[in-house]
Amino acid sequence: MLSVSHALARCLQEALEQAFPEAVAVARSAGTELDPQLAPASKPEFGDFQANGALALAKLLKQSPRAVATALVDRLAADPAFMALALPPQIAGPGFINLTLRPQALVAEVASRLADPRLGVPLAGAAAVAGGCGSAALAQGDGGLVMASAPVIVDFSSPNIAKEMHVGHLRSTIIGDSLARVLAFRGHAVLRLNHVGDWGTQFGMLITHLKQVAPEALTTVDAVDLGDLVAFYRQAKQRFDEDAAFQSTAREEVVKLQAGDPVSRRAWQLLCDQSRREFQLIYDRLGIDLQERGESFYNPYLPPVVADLEATGLLVTDEGARCVFLEGVSGKEGKPLPVIVQKSDGGFNYATTDLAAIRYRFAAPPAGDGARRVIYVTDAGQASHFAGVFQVARRAGWIPDDGRLEHVPFGLVQGEDGKKLKTRSGDTVRLKDLLDEAVERSEADLRRRLEEEGRSESEAFIRHVATTVGLAAVKYADLSQNRTTNYQFSFDRMLALQGNTAPYLLYAVVRIAGIARKGGDLEGGGDQDGVAGAGLQFSEPQEWALVRHLLGFDAVIAEVEEELLPNRLCTYLFELSQVFNRFYDQVPVLKAPPEARASRLALCRLTADTLKLGLGLLGIPTLERM
Ligand code: ARG
Repeated sequence: MLSVSHALARCLQEALEQAFPEAVAVARSAGTELDPQLAPASKPEFGDFQANGALALAKLLKQSPRAVATALVDRLAADPAFMALALPPQIAGPGFINLTLRPQALVAEVASRLADPRLGVPLAGAAAVAGGCGSAALAQGDGGLVMASAPVIVDFSSPNIAKEMHVGHLRSTIIGDSLARVLAFRGHAVLRLNHVGDWGTQFGMLITHLKQVAPEALTTVDAVDLGDLVAFYRQAKQRFDEDAAFQSTAREEVVKLQAGDPVSRRAWQLLCDQSRREFQLIYDRLGIDLQERGESFYNPYLPPVVADLEATGLLVTDEGARCVFLEGVSGKEGKPLPVIVQKSDGGFNYATTDLAAIRYRFAAPPAGDGARRVIYVTDAGQASHFAGVFQVARRAGWIPDDGRLEHVPFGLVQGEDGKKLKTRSGDTVRLKDLLDEAVERSEADLRRRLEEEGRSESEAFIRHVATTVGLAAVKYADLSQNRTTNYQFSFDRMLALQGNTAPYLLYAVVRIAGIARKGGDLEGGGDQDGVAGAGLQFSEPQEWALVRHLLGFDAVIAEVEEELLPNRLCTYLFELSQVFNRFYDQVPVLKAPPEARASRLALCRLTADTLKLGLGLLGIPTLERM
């Protein structure tokens, strides 16, 4: 209920100004605002919201917290705009103020959402427009709101050429896609960048090795498949580590490639194409949209990075390498740690490319992307890499004051034994096999269920449902975990029909679609005669519980946009399904008395719409039947 909470915040602010004008003025002259600390109620029995600011204010004003709270409550009770929204406020404990919305205010919100395809989620930039006290349905994302123009970049997936895309990349892909969807829905122009590892020493090794053992791979499309390439890469790496002559040939090969030698370039191009096609198979299956802009893109921008760092005096030469020493981070023996920008042999590395990428991403167009927020989704193991690179970029002056650089780290994917995820034979798990198995298991579950229920369905239906549920299960299992912890991969758990799983949520949507098939008109119940909520009425506690939960959707989206934790949205949707199921199990809908039926059907529709939109933002399509 962002619009309502903005309205309440405004009322509280006004109450503060009226009750304590001097304190407000003193704070303002010091450049701060007194904060009434409005927050969602910590428990349902406290109402809908609470304002906790009286305690801190009391210290400042040298009064008792209760006296401060009483003064605020008296002002609020005398404010018609406030009283139109909420019941008379209550003071609890030492000086908390509990706020309960009037049923009419909740009903008006429900009505406005029924008529709003954005379900109450404002477009970015609209929050500042919203917030007038007393208007409960602001910022509906309709006309007049402009799209926030500076792009947000989400750097995700980013596998490496000639290597297998692994479960870590899968996590990055799923989490990054969901964050990109939420940001785009909020109205940001989102650049979804695939920072593939397509440059550097690995190509020197691989090309050198292939020239000797499988030269056709460097000249002919599809001469070897990715599995073979991965094996060749492993052999090349081993030779590189053991054989000095091979090592120097490989280094010369990198130099040739970087200098644009046509034979090396062609070989490189072929290797990239090969991997790219394999990656695309995974993206297509998962419905992932990505723009490839690999490390090689930044090749021409590497020398300017060095020049810039030189000019700002940050660059130090240490044992032949050019580096920037980090502030506030030290390694063993308390020595400051460097970010190495150029190696002693003149080569650049992963960090240099990331510096060039940051510089380019924040630079104004056409010389760059003009971004204001750049988000990196990788495993937590890269946290210190990004901390270092971010620090150097800031000190180099490449980040505008309002620019945000965020590393979104995630934990390891583990098997059910808590160890690194492996196949039974101990190999690394191939993503294709993992997705295949999810779909196969989901199909087996479905066939079993159909048999138990005595249903018969077409093969096309079975394939469609099994694929949707299987892939949804993989995505949801990943997204519903707090990403910062390690995550145990379990087909049984993710495919279960009960619990916080994709099948459970998908089933709630199916259940509501079933209500419509049984004759419930889900499209009614909204505004009547242009009066918001005039056609709606609720009486049962299960209805109010569902109303309150539904109205929390916009706040959750705002939270995910800010904190980049998709599991918050998952928890919200899971709880919504539970609250809905309780409502639907305990309150008659299709058999409800006529005066209640349309309102209950309207709640069913809003629930379905919220689940569909929410799951869509997680990258999960829904089903009408399953
Ligand atoms: N290719 C890297 C890896 O496989 C991930 C790249 C992440 N993005 C970045 N800008 N460094 O670990």
